[in-house]
Amino acid sequence: MAKEGVFPYRARHPHRQLSTLKMEKLTVPKFRAMKAGGRKIVMLTAYDYTMARLLDSAGVDGLLVGDSLAMVVQGHHTTLPVTIEQMIYHASMVARAVQRALVVVDMPFLSYQLGIRDAIANAGRVLKETGAHAVKLEGGADQAEVIAALVKAGIPVMAHLGVMPQSVLQSGGYSVQRDLSRLVADAKAVEQAGAFAVVLECIAAEIAAQITKQVSIPTVGIGSGAECDGQIQVVHDLLGLTLGKVPKHSKCYADLKSLAVAAVTRYCEEVRSGAFPTEKQSFQ
Ligand code: KIV
Repeated sequence: MAKEGVFPYRARHPHRQLSTLKMEKLTVPKFRAMKAGGRKIVMLTAYDYTMARLLDSAGVDGLLVGDSLAMVVQGHHTTLPVTIEQMIYHASMVARAVQRALVVVDMPFLSYQLGIRDAIANAGRVLKETGAHAVKLEGGADQAEVIAALVKAGIPVMAHLGVMPQSVLQSGGYSVQRDLSRLVADAKAVEQAGAFAVVLECIAAEIAAQITKQVSIPTVGIGSGAECDGQIQVVHDLLGLTLGKVPKHSKCYADLKSLAVAAVTRYCEEVRSGAFPTEKQSFQ
């Protein structure tokens, strides 16, 4: 008779147990074509294997291993401290988990600002060492040369305009962006350079709508209104796991923080009272 496993393999690694909404694997060209096809793009951030599995199985189109992990996972005050090694570490967990979604990885601060050679080497490392599909970097016309060089090297690039958290020390904060002519020029510059999509962060809704109309690549908004071609949110905000203030542009679809604290409080009580473990959780 087979012995009862202590860690049943399938329970720990249920690779086939989660149903995936629609198994058509997304590629960069399919992602880009969603705009022309009128299909809204759904993205979330992800930083680890388990969460990426859950989000992929729920049917998101893209997962961003955002440098927001510096704040959300590592507890820093800005996105600046996260390193390329740390991004690669998290991105490889996410890429390993995913069956359908496109995996995009943020290029962290100073991994692409020091010159084209450096940018290609770092972005190349991200793709080679993680299994992710694309990188994202912050900037418009000022980064067009870097974007073009990455694309020429075969590295798909998602651009990022509006609030650019890597420049927070220079900008002094995260205020809503409203400069229509500069933002449209930046969006056109990244499109021209070969970016396959562009994130619009905290841009006034009317301005984001104008940008969306004026470029052929998809715009993926966060705090930039409903007219963007898609939306992205930080998963901790969406699931109610954020410890501090949740941004105005986020909506909590669940309160996992309360559920987690209640569950662990009960566990503490049961261990202390002797109610856990019972025979059911014990081996004879
Ligand atoms: O790092 C991140 O999570 C991001 C999103 C907010 C778009 O760049």
